[in-house]
Amino acid sequence: MSADYQVQPVILAAGKSTRMGAHQKVLQNILGRPVLTYVFEAAAGCSDRAPAVVVGHRKEEVQQAFEDRTIQWIHQSPQRGTGHALMTVRSQLDQQAHDVLVLLGDCPGITADTLENVKQVHREETAALTLLTADLDDPQGYGRVLRSEEGEILRIVEEDEATSQQQQIREVNSGVMLLDTEICFPLLDELPVHEQSEEIYLTDLVALLQERNETIRSFTVDSEEEILGMNTPRQKSEVSEILRNRIIFRHMKNGVEIRSPEQTYIEPGAELGPGTVVEPFVVIRSEVEIGSNCHVGPFCQIRPGTVLEDGAEIGNFVETKKARLGEESKAKHLAYIGDARIGKNVNIGAGTITANYDGERKHQTRIKDGSSTGSNSVLVAPVQLGENSQIGAGAVVVEDVNDQDTVVGVPAKSVKDED
Ligand code: UD1
Ligand code: CA
Repeated sequence: MSADYQVQPVILAAGKSTRMGAHQKVLQNILGRPVLTYVFEAAAGCSDRAPAVVVGHRKEEVQQAFEDRTIQWIHQSPQRGTGHALMTVRSQLDQQAHDVLVLLGDCPGITADTLENVKQVHREETAALTLLTADLDDPQGYGRVLRSEEGEILRIVEEDEATSQQQQIREVNSGVMLLDTEICFPLLDELPVHEQSEEIYLTDLVALLQERNETIRSFTVDSEEEILGMNTPRQKSEVSEILRNRIIFRHMKNGVEIRSPEQTYIEPGAELGPGTVVEPFVVIRSEVEIGSNCHVGPFCQIRPGTVLEDGAEIGNFVETKKARLGEESKAKHLAYIGDARIGKNVNIGAGTITANYDGERKHQTRIKDGSSTGSNSVLVAPVQLGENSQIGAGAVVVEDVNDQDTVVGVPAKSVKDED
């Protein structure tokens, strides 16, 4: 395929999500990100063009959530179905495009690799339309793909209009399609309005093309993972699981040992080095960097802005946020480390807390190489612990501690001063 073959991604996201509550479905949070983000990433992986996104229902919220991205917003009002959405695209798209790649805003499992396959089929077969379809054991809820005995695609029938025989068909329409606009756009005016729903379906384009002997092709996946729509709370949890597993497997492939993949939650945007071990019941948020040969968990939460240098260890019931731990430094039990910069070979004792918040602002804690903090110590930021300093158990540190010094008590004082 020639490298300059560019398709225009168009993401449909204007519909109401009647079964998902008042919230806009495409803004629902999966692994710390709005659903639509995943569709953007797949689109960006197979096209250099900024996506066009069709919005309608609660469009202000959707546009606001992505105001820092380059997107061409297309306004569809009222929302009269997926075919009507494409008619709106036709009239508002500001850049000429020969081929338009239609994606669904509520199907975040799609990958750039699969979209590349769709592009390739479309290109090689000079198709008017290429569908992404899936062979499913349980096709319920999807439009079915009707083929002739020779395997030619004839049309798509929506589930609620399918006969019981058609409902037995296991090949479903994913909703993703690549279309040649020169052939398909003029035909949109001929799409029928469905009586019951009063909507215009994009899926009917297939029958119109078939009647005109245009080339219709497909690329088929054999699992639901890439096409699963988020129409119900249950499907949302299934989609979340699919995306969570993908991240876990990516890290394992990179040499991270994840002891209990089922019980590990890692958001996109966290990097982990090879040789690192992740114990069960660990939450790693985005914007986290974990080096090589670190040990994390069980039962800890590593929040955004955390950096663990090589060999660092975070143990049970430890929470970190905007914190850097130097090489071989450890916080093994019951600690909160926020807004902190910790050097090498530091030992954070059980129950140490960086008190970073004074009720109005956050403050920094700095702990230099080789230091150790005693059990249940509180470091009241802003504060600095010097090199190889030691903090006694139960100390409340409100002033900086000198290099090599030991402080104890409430408020903490240097042992050299005690006589
Ligand atoms: C659609 C397909 C169905 C396919 C399924 C895959 C049609 C008629 N049916 O059904 O064949 O198996 O997706 O998930 O296309 N949207 C708009 N404007 C509208 C209506 C919808 O932008 O006027 C958007 C929605 O926000 C959504 C997408 O289009 O992101 C799909 O619409 P939805 O109502 O969810 O279609 P399904 O019934 O799931
Ligand atoms: Ca849907």
